[in-house]
Amino acid sequence: MNLLIMGLPGAGKGTQAAKIVEEFGVAHISTGDMFRAAMANKTEMGVLAKSYIDKGELVPDEVTNGIVKERLAESDIAEKGFLLDGYPRTIEQAYALDETLKALGLKLDGVINIEVNPDSLVERLSGRIIHKETGETFHKVFNPPVGDYNEDDYYQREDDKPETVKRRLDVNIAQGAPIIEHYRKAGIVSDIQGNQEIDAVFADIEKAIAAMK
Ligand code: AP5
Ligand code: MG
Repeated sequence: MNLLIMGLPGAGKGTQAAKIVEEFGVAHISTGDMFRAAMANKTEMGVLAKSYIDKGELVPDEVTNGIVKERLAESDIAEKGFLLDGYPRTIEQAYALDETLKALGLKLDGVINIEVNPDSLVERLSGRIIHKETGETFHKVFNPPVGDYNEDDYYQREDDKPETVKRRLDVNIAQGAPIIEHYRKAGIVSDIQGNQEIDAVFADIEKAIAAMK
């Protein structure tokens, strides 16, 4: 099964992706995670990506298209399927993905579009905490780690500062509409109400995936 998960920053793509991967065994391909790994390793691409990400801007299409193409060509993908998270994020990336999939003989089965009220997103992003050891995402209020936890074991993303969040939202709102339109024309979009409890969102995603088969 080959899926995309789309939604504004903080919509819950990563949170739901972890659950989808656990249940369906597909490969999780998050361009944001790939860039953050490159930034942590201070590779040439990481240094370049950081100069955009820290400002809340998008990394240039040719860089992003390149890393996705490379990952999709790896041997596990045809076998396991994939879940793309945070890509495509411009209409040019959507066209590039169409080309890449065609060249690899793959096709998209569905697009999970998490719809959220943008007013709720600043609060979600400012309270997001990530476990240093496992990379698991939590929220201080909406999804706290179980039991007493030590704040030192968690970190916050650099681009979750309020000024950067505002720019990320503006950029993503401006770019998003034509991409969804592109997939609506293909008849493969499932709209999911994202302003619900995390487990309720996932229950709706499971139903949408069952209907795709
Ligand atoms: P990326 O890492 O993709 O960030 P994003 O799209 O801004 O989305 P987030 O990861 O912030 O949010 P999410 O939807 O995954 O939410 P999460 O589940 O964590 O990209 C980062 C940057 O990299 C971009 O700005 C860009 O610069 C660059 N980049 C990446 N891809 C690119 C591309 N294709 N092209 C160009 N540049 C690219 O949830 C958020 C919080 O809310 C968590 O604390 C969570 O616990 C909580 N939460 C989740 N669900 C719920 C719920 N239902 N109720 C209450 N709280 C919830
Ligand atoms: Mg994410």
